[in-house]
Amino acid sequence: MGRVDGKVAIVTGAASGLGAADARLLAAEGAQVVLTDVNVDAGKAIAGEIGAEFFEQDVSDEEVWKELVAETVDRFGRLDVLVNNAGIAVIADIERTTAEIWRRTLAVHLDATFFGCHYALPAMVASGGGSLINMSSTAALVGIAPYLAYSAAKGGIRSMSKSIAAHCKSRRNGVRCNSVHPGSIDTPMVHAALDGLGGLKPEGERFPEEMRRALGIGEPEDVAQLVLFLASDESKHISGAELVIDNADTVAQLSGPGGN
Ligand SMILES: NC(=O)c1ccc[n+]([C@@H]2O[C@H](COP(=O)([O-])OP(=O)(O)OC[C@H]3O[C@@H](n4cnc5c(N)ncnc54)[C@H](O)[C@@H]3O)[C@@H](O)[C@H]2O)c1
Repeated sequence: MGRVDGKVAIVTGAASGLGAADARLLAAEGAQVVLTDVNVDAGKAIAGEIGAEFFEQDVSDEEVWKELVAETVDRFGRLDVLVNNAGIAVIADIERTTAEIWRRTLAVHLDATFFGCHYALPAMVASGGGSLINMSSTAALVGIAPYLAYSAAKGGIRSMSKSIAAHCKSRRNGVRCNSVHPGSIDTPMVHAALDGLGGLKPEGERFPEEMRRALGIGEPEDVAQLVLFLASDESKHISGAELVIDNADTVAQLSGPGGN
């Protein structure tokens, strides 16, 4: 028995990093998974590997969301899980952030998460309930200076998720909504960030274990385990929560050296 047997899940940004790990684990635990991404070749390759479907999607495009949800329900008869995961991270602080960077970042993170929840919700209600899983970041909790627009977008995702959870509770519609807040995880997004900020990059696809430990970086599979839990009925009493997955990085920063 898989932990999400019989469930139908959409994972956005599933051609790389966290989305790919989420899709792999959900499929391994029995879900029918629809992977979406702008990166068609990589998305199709992973979908083929795990026996899932691929759908080309720019998450900032509202019309494509309508087609994606309709086609998923047509194909599988229901929708139980949406992982709003696709994202971009442009290095730019308050002085360097242009209007273009600001708008594109908010479009890919905040608009997309809104569209996803808005169009998935009725399909989930019709399926008897569901789980909306919105990928935020510890940037939403502390703000990161070189990532102004990204921090703002992730903060918006955090509070939007709580609003949706409160709405669904008041409607008693069986849909839960939570935000996930990873710290640094070993993915191409973080490789680009570390390279851009300090000239550090892995030789292969990931950092060696020792280096990951030294840098305080997690693995995509660590986040996928949390996503699987939120997708499954094991988390049926969890909604409106912000789940931090950073091995205490955020609290350690706030408590300072010595933890006083
Ligand atoms: N890696 C981390 O340390 C970390 C930490 C906190 C939060 N996150 C969040 O996790 C999510 C996944 O990040 P990742 O680290 O796996 O990054 P990644 O760059 O490895 O993967 C992101 C994926 O999103 C896709 N994508 C980008 N723009 C898109 C668009 N407009 N439409 C559809 N797909 C699009 C990319 O093609 C890529 O496949 C993001 O929302 C990111 O902000 C990552």
